[in-house]
Amino acid sequence: MEKLLYINGSWTGDSLEKIEVFNPANGEVVGTVASCGKEETDAAIDAAHKAFPSWSKLTAYERADYLMKLHDLMIEQKEELAELMTLEMGKPLKESVGEVMYAASFIKWYAEEGKRIYGRTIPSSAENKRMQVLRQPVGVVAAITPWNFPAAMITRKLGPALAAGCTFIVKPPKETPLTAIKLVELADQAGFPKGVINLVTGSSSVIGKAIMDSEKVRKVTFTGSTEIGKKLIEQGAATVKNVSMELGGHAPAVVLEDADLNKAVAGIVASKFRNAGQTCICINRVYVQESVYEEFVERVAVEAKKLKVGNGLDEGTDIGPIINKDGYEKISEHVENAVSNGAECVTGGKGRADNGGYYYEPTVLKNVSQDMLIMNEETFGPVIPIHKISSVEEGIRLANTSPFGLAAYVYTESMSKGTQVVEGLDYGIIGWNDGVPSAAQAPFGGMKESGLGREGGVEGMEAYLETKYVSFVL
Ligand code: SIN
Repeated sequence: MEKLLYINGSWTGDSLEKIEVFNPANGEVVGTVASCGKEETDAAIDAAHKAFPSWSKLTAYERADYLMKLHDLMIEQKEELAELMTLEMGKPLKESVGEVMYAASFIKWYAEEGKRIYGRTIPSSAENKRMQVLRQPVGVVAAITPWNFPAAMITRKLGPALAAGCTFIVKPPKETPLTAIKLVELADQAGFPKGVINLVTGSSSVIGKAIMDSEKVRKVTFTGSTEIGKKLIEQGAATVKNVSMELGGHAPAVVLEDADLNKAVAGIVASKFRNAGQTCICINRVYVQESVYEEFVERVAVEAKKLKVGNGLDEGTDIGPIINKDGYEKISEHVENAVSNGAECVTGGKGRADNGGYYYEPTVLKNVSQDMLIMNEETFGPVIPIHKISSVEEGIRLANTSPFGLAAYVYTESMSKGTQVVEGLDYGIIGWNDGVPSAAQAPFGGMKESGLGREGGVEGMEAYLETKYVSFVL
């Protein structure tokens, strides 16, 4: 049986229409998946709903054993998972291996954290009364995940949901369903009971609507664009869905004059060119204080020039293809808009459509101004626009001129200035001298239009728990 949909512990979907999955490096077909409709989505929801009472009654220790089996299988098969990820998403193989390890870290961390879901006892004001707070799983969870991190954005949701006692349906994106299928195959091998994990692929609008309309789905966790997130929030209103939304970003970095430029250059290059800049938290605009501006620009350009663009499967590739033509065109538009309005291209500035794939050179722009498109929209590509600032206050003010508030970065060796910037930024994640702040044990999520709720850390477990207060008269 071909591995297509996974519903109630069985692989199914053979008779359904198929959708092709493409390699962004060359446009070749790398697999096919089933296009499921409302009927199959409802079946997945029913399976998760039926499995919930028994899964939620297992002890946290029993649930942790299943999760750890999945974790171990992911580590054992990390090369296979990584290769599949590069084939369908394009990121360099070394980054894919890194992502599998990152993805597995969520499973392991939450397997442990599930054992620490504590309630509490409240001192009562009456001698014969006891007051207790219980924490219980929210119920059936549906996860709608993005293409840029095909494994980690599933496990960051699946780990805490399952550890908390929820059952799970995952809907991966059309670009990267194969990694999701492989992960679910490993979950099947790990022996999770029927219906605890289910997988549906196909049209986002059809599956999304069935999920949002269902009274049985109590929680929806989504990573993707702010535009789609807003629609899901609206659709969830009818059943008052519990939602977690990890939405778009437009991350600023503020480099102050007392920054250690070794840290700033290394951190900003690591952040910006990770996954070819197709990362929600990667730096999208840089504000540098005037006295270190020229040196910073020069040094970043030197590092950017060293990076090799190509097929992610080729040895030595640092920057893989852009996911598709639309993504490529957006990057080109941002660069053209900046240059035609007076920015100077220090390095890069060009893309190429090559043999079915879209590639963009690592690009550094200087003399950028705040009114340019690139300073106001998420680029999702390997471009660093650098804007000169004269003070800490100006850096904070410009960094905050965005409806988004996911991640921001500051580079300074001064405790007091760093604290001033950290406290002044309206962002959910701050990297202080750190270009890659994400970790399983830390909260990840945004303010303003970047989302609702947090994933990762103890906050990420909270997202899958209900609070039940019990007042008991003796
Ligand atoms: C994202 O792009 O949303 C994920 C990045 C991360 O987890 O570091």
